[in-house]
Amino acid sequence: MGHDLTCVLLCNTLYVLIIFVDVQNKKWVSDITYTISKFNGKSKQYKEAERQKWDNVASGWQKWWSTIERGGANLSKRLIELAEIKPDSRVLDISTGIGEPAITAASQLDKTGYILATDISPQMLSIAKQRATSFGLENVIEFREGDTETIELPTNTFDAALCRAGLMFLPDPNAGLSNIF
Ligand SMILES: C[S@@+](CC[C@H](N)C(=O)[O-])C[C@H]1O[C@@H](n2cnc3c(N)ncnc32)[C@H](O)[C@@H]1O
Repeated sequence: MGHDLTCVLLCNTLYVLIIFVDVQNKKWVSDITYTISKFNGKSKQYKEAERQKWDNVASGWQKWWSTIERGGANLSKRLIELAEIKPDSRVLDISTGIGEPAITAASQLDKTGYILATDISPQMLSIAKQRATSFGLENVIEFREGDTETIELPTNTFDAALCRAGLMFLPDPNAGLSNIF
């Protein structure tokens, strides 16, 4: 009897799932595959999808960055305050996107300070570089493409690590944080 009930429940679940997938468009299927791959540890596939996703939306960030920063500027300032950035600080910014909070931090450094800003998306980094140049900060910030979980970083180099709206995109945040510290 117990087996019968389990079987009925399983069939019903499958039936609901099939209807669910059937009535939605293909995007749902790819979303489900994407989510499963994320939690399945197949992070190579997930990371490639993530890189492409951010490359694809980069032009939107370029168009709207001044509007985005009207909302984001206070976050950058608060992060910098909490990290106690000083004029000679050596700072790491992960998932910098269009260059925040790296660029805001760089504006507080003198010639002895240094920032390494990293991101998985070359297109987002390209905007970050353009923004840094437009603020005359291109010599203070070095930009490097890479995945936070695996990027090779120099050891014992940084006084502080910053990240604004980036950690939630890591399938394994522990790996990301261990790689930074
Ligand atoms: C919401 S944006 C935030 C960008 C910027 N920090 C800001 O606050 O405007 C998230 C950024 O995380 C980056 N990203 C996603 N997964 C990443 C990973 N595994 N390693 C490095 N960067 C990643 C994306 O390319 C994107 O630029």
